Amino acid sequence: MGLQTGVIVVLCLMGFTCADPVKFKDCGSESAKVVMVDINPCPVQPCQLKKGDSYGVNVTFTSDVQSQTSTAVVHGVIAGVPVPFPIPNEDGCKSGIQCPIQQQQTYHYVNSLPVKSEYPAIRLVVEWELRDDNKKDLFCIRFPVQIVS
Ligand SMILES: *[C@@H]1O[C@H](CO)[C@@H](O)[C@H](O)[C@H]1NC(C)=O
Repeated sequence: MGLQTGVIVVLCLMGFTCADPVKFKDCGSESAKVVMVDINPCPVQPCQLKKGDSYGVNVTFTSDVQSQTSTAVVHGVIAGVPVPFPIPNEDGCKSGIQCPIQQQQTYHYVNSLPVKSEYPAIRLVVEWELRDDNKKDLFCIRFPVQIVS
C-alpha cells in the first residue's frame, strides 16, 4: 500500500466520507458512456463489503440518447453465474437522475447497495445495468467485490 492509499484508508476509517473511484469493466454500455464509478466507502480494491452495511454507488455517465425512463438491473456474478442482487429502488429516475434523460447530458446515478447479513463471505462481481426506454443498456458496468463478516 502506498502512502497516499494509506492516508485515504486512515481518513476513511476515521469516518470521513470517502467516495472512491473504482476500477470497472464496461459490459456493453450501448446508449451512454460511463465516465466514473464511485463506491462509498471503498478505500481498498476490490471493495470490501461488510455484511449488514450499505454502500453508496455513484455512476457518472453521458447519455447518447433521450429516454423517458431508466431502470436498474443488478446482479451478483458468482463463479460466472449471475444471481439477482436486490437494490432498494430500481427506478433510475428516482436515483439522482432527472428524467427525461437528454442526449449528450452528463448524469450522476446515485443508489445504494445493501449487503444483507445472510450473504456468504465470498468474492463476486457486481454487474450493474441501467436500461433506457428501449431496454438497451445506458450503462453496464462490472466491478469485483469481497463480502466480509
Ligand atoms: C457523484 O459523483 C460526482 C462526481 O464525482 C459528484 O460531483 C457528485 O456530487 C456525486 N453525487 C453524490 C450524491 O455523491
